[in-house]
Amino acid sequence: MQKRSPIEVFGEWAEIGKDEGMAKGHESAVSQMLESVLPVERHFSFLDAGCGNGWVVRKVGQLPRCSRAEGVDGSVQMIEKARSIDPSGRYHLANLTTWTPEASFDIVHSMEVFYYIADPLALLKSIRATWLNAGGKLVMGIDFYTENTASHDWPEKLRSTK
Ligand SMILES: C[S@@+](CC[C@H](N)C(=O)[O-])C[C@H]1O[C@@H](n2cnc3c(N)ncnc32)[C@H](O)[C@@H]1O
Repeated sequence: MQKRSPIEVFGEWAEIGKDEGMAKGHESAVSQMLESVLPVERHFSFLDAGCGNGWVVRKVGQLPRCSRAEGVDGSVQMIEKARSIDPSGRYHLANLTTWTPEASFDIVHSMEVFYYIADPLALLKSIRATWLNAGGKLVMGIDFYTENTASHDWPEKLRSTK
C-alpha cells in the first residue's frame, strides 16, 4: 500500500469531522501554551503553523490585545473549513517547509505538527529567520514521544484511518 502524506490524511479527517475532535483534545494543552507566551501588556501578532480548521486562530484573534491572527496549513480541506467557518479570517494554504509569510509575527504557535516535518531543524531556522519579529516567540506542543506510550501506534493508525 502506498504511504499517504500526513497532509492528505488530515484532509480526509477534515472531510469527516475528525478535526473537531482534535480541537477538543488539544484545547487544554493549547490554553496552557498560549498562557505561557501571549503578552499581557502589549499588542501582538499571532500565527498558528499547521492550524488545521483554524480554531486556535479564532480563539486568539478574539483577544483584545491581538492585532493580527493568521493560520497556515497544507491541507486544502482544513483551510476550506477554516474559511467557511470564518470567511474574513486569514488562512493560508501552504506547506510549512516552503512558505514565507508576507509579514512577520510576534508569536508563532504550533500544536501537534512538528513530527510530520522531515527536517524540523530547517523549519525552526526558517521560523526564526523570516517568520518571527525580533524578540518574538515560538511555542510548540508535541504529544508523540517515547514516554507517551499511548502515542506509539499513531504512525500505523494514521496510515490506516479514514
Ligand atoms: C494533528 S493536526 C493538528 C491541527 C491543529 N494544530 C490542531 O491542534 O487542531 C496536524 C496538522 O498539520 C498539518 N500539516 C502537517 N504537515 C504539514 C506541512 N508540511 N505543511 C503544512 N501543514 C502540515 C496537517 O494538514 C494538519 O492539519
